[in-house]
Amino acid sequence: MAIFKKKKPEADSYRTLPEHIGIIMDGNGRWAKKRLLPRTAGHTAGAKVFRTIARYCSDIGIKYLTVYAFSTENWSRPPEEVKALMKLFKDYLLEALSDFKDDSIVVNFIGDKSGFTDEMHKLMDENEELSKDRDGMVLNIAINYGSRDEIVRAVKKISAGVKNGDIDIDSIDEKMVSDNLYTAGQPDPDLVIRPSGEYRISNFLLWQSAYTEFVIMNKLWPDFTTEDLDEAIDIFNGRNRRFGGV
Ligand code: FPP
Repeated sequence: MAIFKKKKPEADSYRTLPEHIGIIMDGNGRWAKKRLLPRTAGHTAGAKVFRTIARYCSDIGIKYLTVYAFSTENWSRPPEEVKALMKLFKDYLLEALSDFKDDSIVVNFIGDKSGFTDEMHKLMDENEELSKDRDGMVLNIAINYGSRDEIVRAVKKISAGVKNGDIDIDSIDEKMVSDNLYTAGQPDPDLVIRPSGEYRISNFLLWQSAYTEFVIMNKLWPDFTTEDLDEAIDIFNGRNRRFGGV
């Protein structure tokens, strides 16, 4: 528990907390470039911010946090950058296993784990197993994740059920699709935050974000603070969500 600083914010009853927040942790490379540092230094700084923000979300009572850590497209980055990211993920996985034993956070990986080394795959499974019965915030780490890939997998699973006679084609509905995604059983994100000023969804939670509020912030991820998270929640609170109604 040494890594995270516990910070209990003032209870502010006027705010509605989003139940599920998604974050596209963008801008690590630009942050490093501005400081004439290698891109990997940006990821190291970004990993620290990830820890702080995950802890803060848990402390203020967010029920689900999904962070976009590595996309199915990120493998095309320079090998040294991919290697550095894998090292950061592994460090976190080891730390979470040994340091966060008394934690309440449920750690969950969404994405294709088979793309990783056996060692990484095992560490992810161990973290999930160790934390699955906890009662705190569910932390989804999207890693080797692509939303289109996720939807294709769901289609294949459902099609296999139709083929073998387990699923009647007329029973396929939105819930069945949702139930076959990595996020099965979880509420859709209410709020997705993208730092770094980019107005893109980048293959993140496409199905799940049908009615999500997006907040784009002009901060690079390594500069993102708990105050920025509060600001995003305030902006979310100012939105009028109609879910297609009036
Ligand atoms: C996007 O910024 C960021 C990534 C592809 C990696 C995100 C990973 C982390 C923040 C580390 C997380 C660590 C753990 C332990 C989950 P970018 O590199 O595309 O930035 P740029 O757009 O400025 O180049």
